Amino acid sequence: MIANQIKRAFSIARSLLHLAVKRSRLSVRKNVTKHEKIFAPKYGVRKLKDPIRGSYSGPGSTVERTTAIRHELPELLQDLECKTMVDAPCGDFKWMREVELPVEKYIGVDVVKELIDANNQAYANAQREFRHLDLVENVLPKVDLVFNRDVLIHLSYADIFRFIARLKQGGCTYLLTTHFPEQAENRDIPTGEWRPVNLEIAPFGFPKPLRTISEKYTANPEHADKCLALWRIDAIPVAQVPL
Ligand SMILES: C[S@@+](CC[C@H](N)C(=O)[O-])C[C@H]1O[C@@H](n2cnc3c(N)ncnc32)[C@H](O)[C@@H]1O
Repeated sequence: MIANQIKRAFSIARSLLHLAVKRSRLSVRKNVTKHEKIFAPKYGVRKLKDPIRGSYSGPGSTVERTTAIRHELPELLQDLECKTMVDAPCGDFKWMREVELPVEKYIGVDVVKELIDANNQAYANAQREFRHLDLVENVLPKVDLVFNRDVLIHLSYADIFRFIARLKQGGCTYLLTTHFPEQAENRDIPTGEWRPVNLEIAPFGFPKPLRTISEKYTANPEHADKCLALWRIDAIPVAQVPL
């Protein structure tokens, strides 16, 4: 009993130490944006409970949980004749590496630098590269399609609007993003938390998407409507926020 309590105390102390070291490494580097400070402790490289099936990018980013979209994404890209794509954010690229993408250029982007460094080391090739960028603060490279899964759900309204404004500056053609079309209303959160987002209703007011891919989400019946939805970027309403 006492031995167990001591073991648990040691394990908590080790985790706290690990987090403190991570935060201190971050603060030593210059040009760390406020978003990297928020997301690096949660989505950075760390020990996984299940290294085979787990993902640094969270439970929704495993190979299993992305089965439906892994199967449908290549066909959608082909139908749209997309030759170039940005995956923003790419996370740890664990499930996306299983997809045969029919594109000439793939650029993965994330705000967590250690993920980008690890991805470049493990997965970069002539067709594929990874860049350390903040999709709220930076204009993304000009491509045919911006793939934007599971991040607007973590951003405040203000940050979503900034992302939309940057997107419109970038001149890309399509946005494929996470959408909850059955959600009756939206609510604002501080960046870093989570809530579902319905982009067709206030305060976003996107038109009907051109296409959707259901994620066939079963983890929570309330969010069974989770999908990836496609818009032309020039059809998305202009965000009314100062940049
Ligand atoms: C839940 S994960 C999703 C990753 C990936 N899209 C997927 O489907 O597996 C969220 C990712 O968003 C990244 N992120 C959060 N805010 C960001 C920002 N402002 N710019 C770029 N990446 C961001 C986090 O670092 C994290 O890797």
